[in-house]
Amino acid sequence: MGLAASPGDHFTAVRSPASLLTERLRLRRPRLSDCAAIFEEYAADPEATRYLAWTPHRSIADTRAFLERQLEIEAAGGERSWMITRRDEDRAIGVIGCIFDAHAVSLGYVLGRQHWNRGYATEGGRAVLAWALALPATRRVWAVCDVDNVASRRVMEKLGMEREGLLRRWSVHPNLSKEPRDCFVYSRIRDAPARR
Ligand SMILES: CC(C)(COP(=O)(O)OP(=O)(O)OC[C@H]1O[C@@H](n2cnc3c(N)ncnc32)[C@H](O)[C@@H]1OP(=O)(O)O)[C@@H](O)C(=O)NCCC(=O)NCCS
Repeated sequence: MGLAASPGDHFTAVRSPASLLTERLRLRRPRLSDCAAIFEEYAADPEATRYLAWTPHRSIADTRAFLERQLEIEAAGGERSWMITRRDEDRAIGVIGCIFDAHAVSLGYVLGRQHWNRGYATEGGRAVLAWALALPATRRVWAVCDVDNVASRRVMEKLGMEREGLLRRWSVHPNLSKEPRDCFVYSRIRDAPARR
């Protein structure tokens, strides 16, 4: 992305909460002991990864390498993620992540298929969006999704994000095609009313 001199420059002082609580969920920081749950819940699932920028993991070792890399990136300050857990169970059933870039924060999320359509992504996303919008450096929180990813579009709408447009040939979703795919871009702008 590269809008700031280095990613996350404006956010270097950000301290993210270790956990965010919602009515039904506890979002908490990832740890290496989450590898098996991540693999079983979504990382190995062709359906859950269909519209993502990576192919399904073939082994827990793949998931471990992925998570180790992610934790290194987060330690450097440019990204933060929280595992989605239910308040009564610590098992990671999904993830919501933020990437910091200049004055913008982009969001991404994945949830295990057996937990879809219960409002969890919206409930967790609302907590992360509120946290990101409240950071002093933030002017914009945004996310993109494949044009065919109806569930993700709906989540962004429910989060009050506004569809800004279509990004032609924006990102490769290798489970669909080797060619970059068209994506919709949605945003919430600081101090602007949420879309109704
Ligand atoms: C996108 C995702 C995180 C949504 O999680 P979720 O917890 O099921 O989301 P919610 O329950 O909060 O909302 C889903 C909405 O999409 C709607 N939806 C889901 N599938 C749909 C479909 N095929 N057609 C129309 N609407 C659909 C649901 O009805 C719901 O809307 P509603 O509340 O108005 O009924 C989940 O589907 C997922 O993990 N997908 C795979 C990973 C992914 O694509 N991540 C996003 C990358 S941009």
